[in-house]
This record gives sequence, structure tokens and C-alpha cells, in this order.
Amino acid sequence: MESKKNIAVITGASSGIGLEFAKQLDSDQRIDEIWLCARRENRLQDLTQSLNKTTKIIAGDVTDLIWQNRFYQELEQNNVQIHTLINSAGMGKKGTVEEIGCKNNAYMIDLNCRALTIVCSICIPFMAIGGRILNLSSVAAFLPQPRFAVYAATKSYVLSYSRALHRELKSKEITVTAVCPNPMETEFFQHTGKPQEISSIKKIGLEQVEKVAAKALRRSERKKDISLQSLSAKFVRIVARILPHPLILWIEEKIGL
Ligand SMILES: NC(=O)c1ccc[n+]([C@@H]2O[C@H](COP(=O)([O-])OP(=O)(O)OC[C@H]3O[C@@H](n4cnc5c(N)ncnc54)[C@H](OP(=O)(O)O)[C@@H]3O)[C@@H](O)[C@H]2O)c1
Repeated sequence: MESKKNIAVITGASSGIGLEFAKQLDSDQRIDEIWLCARRENRLQDLTQSLNKTTKIIAGDVTDLIWQNRFYQELEQNNVQIHTLINSAGMGKKGTVEEIGCKNNAYMIDLNCRALTIVCSICIPFMAIGGRILNLSSVAAFLPQPRFAVYAATKSYVLSYSRALHRELKSKEITVTAVCPNPMETEFFQHTGKPQEISSIKKIGLEQVEKVAAKALRRSERKKDISLQSLSAKFVRIVARILPHPLILWIEEKIGL
């Protein structure tokens, strides 16, 4: 019987750090093919042109049951095992919970938490022994963040879920890494709304997608369950552990975060 192809699956591959992961995994000799997922198919086609490896485009909305079924069928019908899964599809809306409204709040949860969990659940039976999953969380996971409340909470979910899943999958030698970057200059900020508030978020320091992706891949190679790129992100994590949260919320208000 023909041996299984080793694939990488990337959601959110059409821009930002997802696209960067595709570029970096293109030189990984252990991966035969890269599967690219996002809604903008033309972007994924452009990306395909710039990669050396064979790709498969599974365009669509990852929150959509039809896309999820199609994705499962593709895995089942092809003779593949997943070497690397990157869950990068995500978005965040800025503003109070009331301003953002029911529909957008629910959508953030659907995309950042529900779809990510479903994609992991679909992929786990197809994971190679020694495979890896990288889930995009954020430095926002460490703190409650008024005016970014639902987004920060979704990223706390991703962090907690990923760390627990890392433990669960240890016996299968699968590493799950929660990637927790500071703000990065990507299209993410084109979708947050409230451009006047974005500059205060960026005050905590912008990170480069190239470095964040490279570090995350190194951390997952070392079987770590969390990846932080910058010193300031590590500082935020420590502060969030030490200080009582009412004090953190007060500081956030004072510095305009
Ligand atoms: N940028 C930051 O400051 C920052 C910081 C920390 C963490 N993060 C996290 O990093 C991840 C990637 O963000 P980014 O900065 O790379 O932003 P980005 O450039 O806006 O990329 C987001 C990606 O998600 C895809 N996507 C969005 N909704 C989707 C849907 N319903 N179905 C399928 N794909 C969808 C987008 O593609 P289509 O529009 O083509 O579907 C795009 O490829 C997110 O989870 C984000 O929360 C970002």
C-alpha cells in the first residue's frame, strides 16, 4: 500500500501570520503538501504560486458546517496524515460588548473558539504520531480587557484549551502549542473597528509575523505548549499572574488599553 502523504493544514492562510506559516513550512522537508484554508480563494491561489510545495485549497468559511464537512471528506478521501495543523483563522472587534452587539460577539466566539475546536476535533484522528498543532491565541489571553472583552476571552479559551489538549495528546506524541503574540501589523486591525483605539493596543509593542511564526515552530519542535515571542509578552504574563485582577483592570484603564 502507498504510504500516506504528510500534510500541513493552515486555516487563515490568506493573510497575516497564517500566510507567513505557509511560507516557512514550504521549506520543511517532512511535509509533502500544504492545505490552505480561508474564504478568499484568489488570495490562496496567489499564495500557491509563490510556494514550491504542492498545495490544496479548501476555500470557505471555517465556521460553516458545509465547509467543515467538506474538509473532513477531503481528509478521509485522500491518503494523508497531518504533520502540522495551524489554526490561524480569527478576528477581533474592538469596543464595549454593547457597542459590538450580539451578532458580532457571537461570531467572534464561533470563529475563534468553536471553529478552532471543531477543526482540531476533525484533524486529531488524522494526525501523524509526532505531529503538531499550533493554535493562535494572543497576549490578550492573560488579561481581562474591557473594550476588547469578548476577543480577549476567546483567546483565554484558546490558551486553556490548547494546554489541556497538549496533555491529552501526549500519549500520541502530538504537541499542541498556544501561540501568544503581542499585536502584529497584519490585516487583523482592518477588521477591529475603532481605529482611534488601536494605537493604544499597539503601544505594548508590535511584533513581526516572521519572528513570531519562526519562534512558534521552534517551540512546537521542542514540544512546548506555549510560545511567547517578546520580552514584553512574557512580562504581561508574569504581571497577570502576580497582580490581583481589579488592579490590572485599573492599570489598563489608566494607560488607555
Ligand atoms: N495581528 C495581531 O495583532 C494578532 C495578535 C495576537 C493574535 N492574533 C491572532 O492571530 C490570528 C491571525 O490573525 P492575523 O493577525 O494574521 O490577521 P489577518 O491578517 O486578518 O488574518 C486572519 C485570517 O483569518 C481568515 N479568516 C477570517 N475569518 C475567517 C472565516 N470565517 N473562515 C475562514 N478563514 C477566516 C482570513 O482569511 P479570509 O478573510 O480570506 O477568510 C485571514 O487569512 C488570529 O487568530 C488573531 O486573533 C493576531
